[in-house]
Amino acid sequence: GGQRALIRESWQRVSGSPVQHGLVLFTRLFDLDPDLLPLFQYNCKQFASPQECLSAPEFLDHIRKVMLVIDAAVSHLENLSCLEEYLCNLGKKHQALGVKVESFSTVGESLLYMLEKCLGAAFSPEVQEAWSKLYNAVVKAMRRGWET
Ligand code: HEM
Repeated sequence: GGQRALIRESWQRVSGSPVQHGLVLFTRLFDLDPDLLPLFQYNCKQFASPQECLSAPEFLDHIRKVMLVIDAAVSHLENLSCLEEYLCNLGKKHQALGVKVESFSTVGESLLYMLEKCLGAAFSPEVQEAWSKLYNAVVKAMRRGWET
């Protein structure tokens, strides 16, 4: 359908430089909710500032992981159910890491912000709607990890 084409086209413009775009997403995320910063700890070390976190190699790896999950969702638009078990487990892992399921709404806002920055005028209401739907489907699957 048209929404799927919009997703694929727009993702093509983002996925070529995942870390660069992921940095826009997570910079926005820490602006919107600075309390998420302490959840990212590597070797039990807390970051003193978002800037420090956003430049840590381990955190850049997390950015790559996030972008790969989105990439998988874009590749499986026709059959997202293939990813359900994986996403449920990913939800469980995040629950164990102390992430609140509500925070994924803020991640969604930050994702749309990043897409708007990247796509400019191409970020139409239709594109926004298509991405909201896809992101909500991903979060719905991850949310099951908090329930079980
Ligand atoms: C792993 C935090 C959102 C995908 C992790 C880890 C932390 C974390 C602390 C473990 C350390 C690491 O691998 O770097 C968070 C927080 C989030 C968030 C605080 C937002 C509030 C997301 C989102 C996705 C995602 C939106 C993808 C849609 C992953 C993946 C892993 C991971 C794939 C690796 C899991 C594994 O080891 O099997 N996350 N994350 N994260 N995260 Fe997130």
